[in-house]
Amino acid sequence: MRYVAIEHLRDGMILGKTLYGEMGEVLLRQGSPILLNYINKISCLGYFGLYIQDALSEDIDVKDTINEDLKMRTIQSVKTMMNINRDNDKEIQKSFSELEDLVESIVKDITSNKDVIINMIDLKVANNYTYYHSVNVTVISLVIGLAMNLESKDMYNLGIAALLHDIGKIFTPNEILDKPGALTLDEYNIIRKHPEDGYNYVKGKLGTHTKTYLGILEHHERFDGTGYPKQTSGKDIGLFARIIAVADVYDALTSDRPYKKRVIPSDAMEYIMGGGGTFFDIDVVREFSKIVAPYPVGTCVRLTNDLVGIVVENFSDCCLRPRIKIIKDGNELIEPYLINLKTSNYNVIISDTTDALTSDQ
Ligand SMILES: [Fe+2]
Repeated sequence: MRYVAIEHLRDGMILGKTLYGEMGEVLLRQGSPILLNYINKISCLGYFGLYIQDALSEDIDVKDTINEDLKMRTIQSVKTMMNINRDNDKEIQKSFSELEDLVESIVKDITSNKDVIINMIDLKVANNYTYYHSVNVTVISLVIGLAMNLESKDMYNLGIAALLHDIGKIFTPNEILDKPGALTLDEYNIIRKHPEDGYNYVKGKLGTHTKTYLGILEHHERFDGTGYPKQTSGKDIGLFARIIAVADVYDALTSDRPYKKRVIPSDAMEYIMGGGGTFFDIDVVREFSKIVAPYPVGTCVRLTNDLVGIVVENFSDCCLRPRIKIIKDGNELIEPYLINLKTSNYNVIISDTTDALTSDQ
């Protein structure tokens, strides 16, 4: 299976991973042909790319970090939680206990996998950004937490904080959240209230751990004291918030937003690494850089010697040097063969990612 950007999809390509709609319903199942009229629909829904299976990539398996069904149920549950009548305490409690169970399952899913890395380009629907984003931030935060050897109770509390980190946005008007252009100073100040609003809401309504409230309150604080709401700095910012900050920015950078286009994972990683010690806690960034693959499996890459191929495997101790199935030399299709950048080809590096693998796309 390999990743193809929406603009390079062609009539009749075979879908590699099941596509879901805004309500979590199945739109198109893995293995179905992608017909021309569907490509427009997929694009309108806000998908910016998807996985296909073809002869070139049939031996490449792309796995999400957590179970797909669990991920979709959690996205729905966050959506319910964020759209509940804020005065209906009974419904809020019910929805929260559902989220607690889901976080427990996510923690179990992640901790059962020893060498877990974020190794897939996320297929998110831009229209439901906040819900998808909340779940992605949770998964990335928990994988960092696992790499930092957090104990199981902390993993669970970190998961709740990450899942609800943006819940304060239920108090922010949609016109501001989805505004395509630059924000005015007043609008920006309204958005900046969401960490405190979220903190007060969760503290007042839900019986969670203090570390969890603080994770929500401090997730926009920056290590050098330039964040908000309190300009807290260094290790005075709770560990949960220092982890969530990295996961939050990484997922936001790799997502399409009304006011900006996404960047590829390797560029987003470079940005995060550049902020280590200033915006972000360098200890967290160090762990992050080990567990997120800059070139996820299924990504098409071009090497400095002009070979083109598909990433087959990433190594958690050397994510920049994956195993690659080479299929092109320059513009010529060649008999495919595997190379492992981790153990050979020392003078060759990945120069670029490419969506156009064959001449017809
Ligand atoms: Fe936020």
